[in-house]
Amino acid sequence: MKFTHLLPTLLAFGAISLSSGVIAADDHENHEIIEKVMKEGLKGDDSPLALVLDGQATAEDTANLDKLIKTMKGTHAPKGDQADYDTKVAELIAAMEAVAKGDTSDAARKRLDEAANCKACHSEHKPKK
Ligand code: HEC
Repeated sequence: MKFTHLLPTLLAFGAISLSSGVIAADDHENHEIIEKVMKEGLKGDDSPLALVLDGQATAEDTANLDKLIKTMKGTHAPKGDQADYDTKVAELIAAMEAVAKGDTSDAARKRLDEAANCKACHSEHKPKK
């Protein structure tokens, strides 16, 4: 008798703690994905991105960066307008893909350079610490 009374409460509590856990994990995962792309792909003078823009990257480096950048698809903006973030991410992915598919023209590299503009994206979407 007591148990059957308690059961709905327990179930509801379980559902709430489960869903809040899922949200937290999702936020965490989102941050991890973006952080990985930033640190392993974009950051620094000798980053894979810098090498690709300089025309110094091997085909393998280029393919790996393309793959890495694509992991940003579907991430949510930690800050700012999601639609604007999606547009910036989509352009970054498209510009990178064009180079990875073999377009190493100045125009293609300039497009990638602009799509990867750190400040343009950070000022809108990177939370201040
Ligand atoms: C299309 C958007 C976008 C572009 C372009 C971009 N970033 Fe970021 N970057 C982000 C977002 C969003 C964060 C914050 C992630 C978070 O806090 O979850 C971030 C965070 C970072 C971080 C901190 C990572 C950490 O959490 O430790 C570094 C470093 C970084 N970016 C470097 C760069 C550099 C260098 C460039 C340019 C070559 C660049 N980013 C271009 C979106 C972008």
